[in-house]
Amino acid sequence: MNITFLLNGETVTADVAPTVTLLDFLREAKGLCGTKEGCNEGDCGACTVMVTDDHGARALNACILFVPQLAGKAVRTVEGIAGPDGLHPVQQAMVDHHGSQCGFCTPGFVVSMATAHLNGRTDHDDQLAGNLCRCTGYAPIIRAARAAEAAPVPSWMHEDLAKEGASATDAAPATVDALAAWCLDHPDGTLIAGATDVGLWVTKQFRELGEVAFLHACTDLQGIDITEDAIRIGAGVTMTRVLDAVADDYPSYAAMIRRYGSVQVRNAATIGGNIANGSPIGDNPPALIALDATLHLRRGEAVRDLPLQDFFLAYGRQDRQPGEFVIGVTIPRGRSAHRVYKLSKRFDQDISAVCGGFDVTVDNGQVTAARIAFGGMAGVPMRAAAVEAALIGQPWTEATITTALPAFAADFQPMSDMRASAAYRLEAAQNMLRRYFADLSGADVDVRRVIA
Ligand code: FAD
Ligand code: FES
Ligand code: FES
Repeated sequence: MNITFLLNGETVTADVAPTVTLLDFLREAKGLCGTKEGCNEGDCGACTVMVTDDHGARALNACILFVPQLAGKAVRTVEGIAGPDGLHPVQQAMVDHHGSQCGFCTPGFVVSMATAHLNGRTDHDDQLAGNLCRCTGYAPIIRAARAAEAAPVPSWMHEDLAKEGASATDAAPATVDALAAWCLDHPDGTLIAGATDVGLWVTKQFRELGEVAFLHACTDLQGIDITEDAIRIGAGVTMTRVLDAVADDYPSYAAMIRRYGSVQVRNAATIGGNIANGSPIGDNPPALIALDATLHLRRGEAVRDLPLQDFFLAYGRQDRQPGEFVIGVTIPRGRSAHRVYKLSKRFDQDISAVCGGFDVTVDNGQVTAARIAFGGMAGVPMRAAAVEAALIGQPWTEATITTALPAFAADFQPMSDMRASAAYRLEAAQNMLRRYFADLSGADVDVRRVIA
């Protein structure tokens, strides 16, 4: 297929197969080898590029970005970060602050830093959490990012902002009606949203995907509608935008999303993809099931709503018919007792070992309702029915929490894997309930302790 986009300010047309990654295209077809291949699975940030569309300029991992996802957008690689007048301020700062040793990670850092600089972001730890460096160490790099903060954005970095957004192509329907028709015609086809899962099927599993449809041009799926009672989020909304949408109502959910992958991953990954993939360790489902979210599906003309918890039938099996797809999710507002806790081996950019969502209603000191859901504890994201039953009708006290703890073993028989053992998972889930109680009681439950 022919895909046209801006590359470092020049229009390029690429005649590519649908699953050619931008990383391969840059290095092999364009000879732009500044963009590095480290992990080829979205983890290291060595392949970071800046992509601009009508949502602004974003850092993305080129290794799990397919070229057709760029139609009508602007891409800037490290080769396009320096301009006619010399180095970009972040590049100069990296030189001044000795931010590079072997240099393998440096192009990725520079693109992430230049994108953050363009967007006025000074939360450097967050902005660079998706870029790994094995030799320099992060302190000089963060010093460089700080040093460049006050420098004006070079004029050439503004050139891409004139881009209007994604173009529809035959493989990227522009409307939800066109997408519904495609899905009916291709019940075995593969939908590609952010490609943060699907990309790995190609780069790691070498899978042939057959017929594919890309969702990035379908603006009907990208809306966020906030009313007095609810937040409705389209399936194609990226996790970066979900974070912003829920931050006021659900700061604990937003704080969890801040640890969901990295900036590059959140800029690509969609909430629809995270739900539709049915992963038992996806982070949105436990948060959303605790909130009693409603999932919206479409097949042909028919729209179907169901409680999100009912979507997950068994490991690898969801309540989704051939030709049916996720169009969005609706979250009630006003659940001030809602909390989400993510436990992973590494604080940033790591898949959860356990993720717990909690929403307990207490009236006059008694528990009247409880919604508690976990990821990482079973083959599907699942409610803790026995734990909820042990709480409801009881006084909201530490003694009740202690009495409820054995019920976790009735709800869950988690597995042992590289992320955690079964026993660890069970104890961690129990401790999350203790933490929730402490949290609602106003205790300081910030578990991130920085060692000076
Ligand atoms: P895609 O990869 O495009 O698609 C995923 C699946 O969903 C495919 O089967 C696709 O066909 C299907 N699909 C997509 N959209 C729809 C739709 N609207 N209707 C029906 N089917 C659809 N996940 C976490 O939960 N927490 C993390 O911290 C996390 N960290 C990650 C870190 C890295 C480095 C990577 C690579 C991934 C990480 N993930 C994490 C997993 C991944 O980012 C998420 O599952 C993501 O939300 C998937 O969304 P996507 O848009 O990229 O989906
Ligand atoms: Fe590691 Fe792309 S090569 S994130
Ligand atoms: Fe060598 Fe970062 S400078 S990996």
